[in-house]
Amino acid sequence: MKILVTAGPTREKIDPVRFLSNASSGKMGYAIADCAARRGHEVVLISGPVALPAPEKVRRIDVESAAEMYDAVAAEFPRCDVLIMAAAVADYRVAQPFAEKLKKMPGEFTLTLERTTDILAEMGKLKQENQKLVGFAAESRDLLRYAEEKLAKKNLDWIAANRLADGFGTDSNRVILISRDGGKIELGPAPKTEIARQMLDAIL
Ligand code: CTP
Repeated sequence: MKILVTAGPTREKIDPVRFLSNASSGKMGYAIADCAARRGHEVVLISGPVALPAPEKVRRIDVESAAEMYDAVAAEFPRCDVLIMAAAVADYRVAQPFAEKLKKMPGEFTLTLERTTDILAEMGKLKQENQKLVGFAAESRDLLRYAEEKLAKKNLDWIAANRLADGFGTDSNRVILISRDGGKIELGPAPKTEIARQMLDAIL
């Protein structure tokens, strides 16, 4: 099968040297891409800036911003059987990034942000019957409620719900995999490589 995986954070430019981002390590998405490639699937990994080497036999496309990630996913998705969105995509970008490096000035400074496109939700609208969509929901509270809302709203087949404290930026994770029909599978706590293996067993 052809499997498209996203991983890592995105960076939204403030000026030429500053950006808004988050602490995603990319490890969960990289583990999924690596595991799928080892099983012989054709894997494309669309990655935000992370400090990880590309897994063997995976075609990696490097992106920075949510808009670049959207373009890369939209270009690859029509040829894919499965899209697994493990990336921590920024929900907001700077409305008007500065062309020159900002100089500090006395007093408060306000940045206006605007929403980025929800990549997963857009692919949920384009999804064909033979394609599967998998999302992640990292929550600090009301884990199942928020995850189930995202599963329905974005037209997903599976959502991997995890508490922020269990897996953000770390080597291990603990995930509840919820399917479209309401089935739930508890995975971990285990290393992300093992969670990746179990997720692929369930999804594929
Ligand atoms: N996602 C995406 N495009 C975005 C934002 C998120 O494709 N612009 C994907 C993520 O890769 C993840 C899922 O959507 O698979 C997360 O859902 P989301 O509702 O965006 O969660 P949060 O970013 O945590 O936002 P919030 O809880 O504030 O709704």
